[in-house]
Amino acid sequence: MTDMNYPHRHLLGIEGLSPLEISYLLDQSERFVEVSRGPDRKLSTLIGKTVVNLFFENSTRTRTSFELAGKRLGADVINMTVGTSSVAKGETLIDTAMTLNAMHIDVLVVRHADSGAAKLLSDKVNCAVINAGDGQHEHPTQALLDALTIRRRKGHLDGLSVAICGDVRHSRVARSNIHLLNVMGAQVRLIAPRTLLPAKAEALGVEVFHDMRKGLKDVDIVMMLRLQNERMTSNFIPSIREYFHFFGLDYDKLSAAKPDALIMHPGPMNRGVEIDSDLADDVERSVIREQVEMGVAVRMACLDVLTANLSKGAA
Ligand code: NCD
Repeated sequence: MTDMNYPHRHLLGIEGLSPLEISYLLDQSERFVEVSRGPDRKLSTLIGKTVVNLFFENSTRTRTSFELAGKRLGADVINMTVGTSSVAKGETLIDTAMTLNAMHIDVLVVRHADSGAAKLLSDKVNCAVINAGDGQHEHPTQALLDALTIRRRKGHLDGLSVAICGDVRHSRVARSNIHLLNVMGAQVRLIAPRTLLPAKAEALGVEVFHDMRKGLKDVDIVMMLRLQNERMTSNFIPSIREYFHFFGLDYDKLSAAKPDALIMHPGPMNRGVEIDSDLADDVERSVIREQVEMGVAVRMACLDVLTANLSKGAA
């Protein structure tokens, strides 16, 4: 029998998860916030288990966060950073899966530049797979840590008005957050220039704005996104200066939001491009550091739930 509260072998995306499953992962994460804040941060829950971080794309906070999460639970954690080769990515991934299977690992945390890479690997390996970002598709633990941060500050997710601003088109963070916030009963607005929105954005169940002051009016949460220069194949914005003028978050634009609106950013930030540097550091408004803290707790919860499911034979 698997954990009926989260009856899955993997965490590949938020799409398809139920409100109860999401709430369960958030509730479990709360326990680990306390552990990380306490004097003794090492548990023995995952002693004898092996977690592999397989990162085909650069990452600082996500990889470190998963590493800390695994170690705080007592697991052995191995980091494999693989340079991305432009050739035969499919074959490389399948070869990697065979190698990992031979090593008898328990959890594979994977980040890859191709959408669908985590799913592809999950079909080939015997362990549990956590998607740590696949191309422009999903980044489920980021959406969970964002939700945990919001829920702890506001007490709930339902009924909140959340603006996701900037490069939505290239953002897996935005996609996972849209799924999660919608299913949890929040109202999502996207604010971006037309060039940085996905085709048929409205079909995602969101309201679309092209003007920051209009879009931010009375929102509870302002989620800024990084301009994903590495995923841009052509010129999506006229210039950085113009982008900041129209779409960068500063105190003036923020004044349209509710007075207690929270500012979030998944990091890494381009200061002065999508967000004013002073505002990003303003602890009265910005919960960016708290997001990083919640990241470790959420990843501990995911590792804990998935390894337990694996030993119970989750399909
Ligand atoms: C995000 C990512 O990699 O998708 N970063 C992260 O996980 N903290 C967002 C980004 O790179 O802009």
